Amino acid sequence: MRHCTEKRTNMAIMKRIEKAEPRMAKPEEIQKQRTYIEKIRAVVSEMTSPKACVVTYGCQQNEADSERIMGTLCEMGYTPTQEPKDADIIIVNTCAVRDHAEKKALSITGGYKHLKHKKPSLIIGVCGCMVSKADMSDKIKHSYPYIDIVFGTENLWKLPEIVYRTMKEDKRMFFPNLGEPVVAEGIPVLRESGYKAWVSIMYGCNNFCTYCIVPYVRGRERSRRPEDIINEVRELVADGYKEITLLGQNVNSYGKEFGDECDFAELLSRICEIEGDFLVRFMTSHPKDASRKLIDVMAANDKIAKHFHLPVQSGSDRILKEMNRHYDREAYLSLIRYMREKMPDICISTDIIVGFPGETDADFEDTLSIVKEVGYDMMYSFIYSKRTGTPAAEMEEQIPEAITGERFARLIDTQNEISLTKNQPYTDKTVRVLVDGRSKNNPEKFSGRTEGNKIVLFDGDDSMTGNFVMVHITEAQTFALKGDVVADKK
Ligand code: 5AD
Ligand code: SF4
Repeated sequence: MRHCTEKRTNMAIMKRIEKAEPRMAKPEEIQKQRTYIEKIRAVVSEMTSPKACVVTYGCQQNEADSERIMGTLCEMGYTPTQEPKDADIIIVNTCAVRDHAEKKALSITGGYKHLKHKKPSLIIGVCGCMVSKADMSDKIKHSYPYIDIVFGTENLWKLPEIVYRTMKEDKRMFFPNLGEPVVAEGIPVLRESGYKAWVSIMYGCNNFCTYCIVPYVRGRERSRRPEDIINEVRELVADGYKEITLLGQNVNSYGKEFGDECDFAELLSRICEIEGDFLVRFMTSHPKDASRKLIDVMAANDKIAKHFHLPVQSGSDRILKEMNRHYDREAYLSLIRYMREKMPDICISTDIIVGFPGETDADFEDTLSIVKEVGYDMMYSFIYSKRTGTPAAEMEEQIPEAITGERFARLIDTQNEISLTKNQPYTDKTVRVLVDGRSKNNPEKFSGRTEGNKIVLFDGDDSMTGNFVMVHITEAQTFALKGDVVADKK
């Protein structure tokens, strides 16, 4: 296996620097943000127990971004709170992937208006995908006067400047994306978990699936340098983190701007060389870019969790074409076959959209049939949501709710049966589980995840949280496995 940096020539290094450097935030710009943090600290130190609240909607990338936002706010001198009513600064990190998520973020933010009445010094900010486009940022400027700061996904690293200027200039600040994204290293981070960490390896998306708003709100693909990612993972492992999830909208196109320097498969194998007992996960993969080389690297490395999330979106070749997905059913299935050939026990999950414009009964039957043919362990299914600005929003034949609702219910019923069938063979087997703590839905039990990302419920104690244990499975259900701890595994 060729490694990312070991065999590169000086020429290649120069090429990489030339290509990568313009996309990096300049060290002096990062330093400027640090200076703003120091200035804000002076202001915040005058406040009585200053608190910050970050409210997050959407995907894991947003959760990772929120950990950076909270890290930055803590460096400014705020302490974290879960309670918006106690906060001196509230940041709502929004999602735009579906209409429902946008409406929820707007309504929750509306609820903070009365907090501002009670405490006029409160700073309310909105960031993330929903406000990244200038039109939405303008809408907030005009219709939500109690919101002080708005910043798009590309400007997260400029939070210190934005907060400082709103404090000092007593002006509202609007920083939508301008289409000039950079990779900014060295932003403070406050991680929610002490044993599971998100590590973004790239940002943005170039794929323009016709239903999806992400490329418009997260900008073009840009990768972090391999050495920055590896150093971050090494530090996390040294700090005792047991699970590292590498994040990107399409991790399989990681490193394209570095030429053939370091692709995703190489990055993964290099990460696996870090010493320690930890698991690596990654998401999300686009089937058009998921390579056999990546599958080989997974099969060869015990540190990579044997779980592959491979969104198929639809089982109909016609719809896949309309979605601009660049693969067909057969190419997808052949990838799945290769995966199972190399890793017979691998767990596979997917995303599916029901009711894409023009989806006929026959197209939907194709989706049901691919779901059965693959036999997914887990599925995340979504009813198509029209996103203004995307090509699919302009397509004729938007599907009525009555039809999408009925198809959605059938899809879920089909998958639930499959999930149960996929879980049953675990009965009487012993699996390694990373313990998450007391189950939220079932508080008398403890809960954890297998390598394949299946939920396991068992009797436990707090000392197990954040550690691996071996669990003997006694019962398989549709959404979880139940069992007994047989040994702690350090
Ligand atoms: N409507 C419904 N689901 C969508 N997704 C992305 N855009 C839309 C949309 N407009 C789903 C896709 C993607 C997942 C993260 O969200 O299935 O894989
Ligand atoms: Fe959206 Fe497609 Fe990019 Fe995923 S790959 S973020 S679905 S455009």
